[in-house]
Amino acid sequence: MTGIAPQLAATATIALRPATHDDVDAIMACERQPGYDDTVGRWSREEHLAALVEPSHRYIVALDSHSAVMGFVILQEIAPAASAVLVRRIAALSQGRGHGRALLDHALALIFDELGAAKAWLRVWPHNARGMALYTKLGMREDGLSEVQRNGAPAVMTIMSIDAARYRDRKPRSETP
Ligand SMILES: CC(C)(COP(=O)(O)OP(=O)(O)OC[C@H]1O[C@@H](n2cnc3c(N)ncnc32)[C@H](O)[C@@H]1OP(=O)(O)O)[C@@H](O)C(=O)NCCC(=O)NCCS
Repeated sequence: MTGIAPQLAATATIALRPATHDDVDAIMACERQPGYDDTVGRWSREEHLAALVEPSHRYIVALDSHSAVMGFVILQEIAPAASAVLVRRIAALSQGRGHGRALLDHALALIFDELGAAKAWLRVWPHNARGMALYTKLGMREDGLSEVQRNGAPAVMTIMSIDAARYRDRKPRSETP
């Protein structure tokens, strides 16, 4: 794939590639893992199939050694003159095995090195400590609040972001605590 940054070297054992229509079942399985409805959204097959062909979207999947899908990330708001790219959704089939980190690391390389965006941002539930810890480790910082509707009631999500300058200033992974 293009746009692989040096920072990805440490995660090179996890293969990553753009998703295809054939990956939708596995992507849906990832976002429907038990307990995930508390922290991540889910789409129908039709919604994923439509999103996959949107020029403003990118889907990346992480694979195990047998080429099975172990996680995915969806980017949105990609445009030729985009100043910010949204990391719309990220989920791992099995937590704590490095797939989330590999996916986000690659997504940031794509956003800054390939797309030349000025900023990457996402929304995370404040109770999602695991997600926020991962985003913080990769250089993202809290950047405001987003008012949303959840189950018909108003709720507030945390916005986290990283700009191109902070991305380039990040320490290599070997120096990251
Ligand atoms: C959030 C998510 C994508 C992270 O992916 P993951 O594969 O579990 O994370 P990784 O294994 O790559 O671990 C990332 C880092 O977080 C750390 N971490 C793992 N569990 C943690 C925890 N409970 N609390 C804090 N940090 C934790 C790991 O040590 C790792 O750091 P390291 O690479 O320096 O060792 C994944 O857990 C997930 O799919 N969660 C459910 C869906 C979700 O919440 N998505 C995000 C919505 S905003």
